Amino acid sequence: MSTDPAPLAPKTPRQSEAVLADLMMPHQANGLKHSSIFGGVIMSLVDRCAALAAIRHCGGQATTLSIDRVLFKEPIRVSELVEMRGRVVHVGRTSMSITVDVYAENVATGERRLTNECWLTFVHLDDDGRPAPVPPLLLETPEDHRFHAAAARRRQQALADRAVR
Ligand SMILES: CC(C)(COP(=O)(O)OP(=O)(O)OC[C@H]1O[C@@H](n2cnc3c(N)ncnc32)[C@H](O)[C@@H]1OP(=O)(O)O)[C@@H](O)C(=O)NCCC(=O)NCCS
Repeated sequence: MSTDPAPLAPKTPRQSEAVLADLMMPHQANGLKHSSIFGGVIMSLVDRCAALAAIRHCGGQATTLSIDRVLFKEPIRVSELVEMRGRVVHVGRTSMSITVDVYAENVATGERRLTNECWLTFVHLDDDGRPAPVPPLLLETPEDHRFHAAAARRRQQALADRAVR
């Protein structure tokens, strides 16, 4: 009789999608003349949102391996509502590539814009803190396939860079 563990059930990116929202307050602003929200505040929220998606996908604990890219396309202002949407877009054996899109909303007018595009990598950890297998990713839409291919290219580059050190 085989002692191999049962195969993990695949999940779609939508099954683990995570949404996080927060109202930006004056103490989170930077010191610029035309004040906006400090980048580190956004990065912390992005990390948390990606962690939620990773935990949902792997069904256990997950740790940040790398924050690969945080693109600041537009400033976010005090009193705006930020909404983060995180999705698992690629998986390896134990790692998960996650995108987080950040939107800022002027709550009074309802005007909303995409302010940040982010890529992160998380690793599923078992109870002893060792990397553990993650469920396969089930791709359903053309968008799923597009992001999956982009994440695969990024992963290849990251692994090549790892070999340099
Ligand atoms: C994440 C961590 C457990 C990985 O440990 P490790 O010894 O590199 O483990 P492995 O070699 O088994 O790699 C685990 C996965 O990460 C990937 N990985 C590791 N280093 C990588 C790198 N430099 N670039 C890209 N991928 C990498 C591996 O390819 C593997 O993914 P895969 O199974 O899908 O192929 C370890 O680096 C760690 O504990 N880091 C600190 C995490 C932390 O403190 N985060 C902040 C708090 S949440």
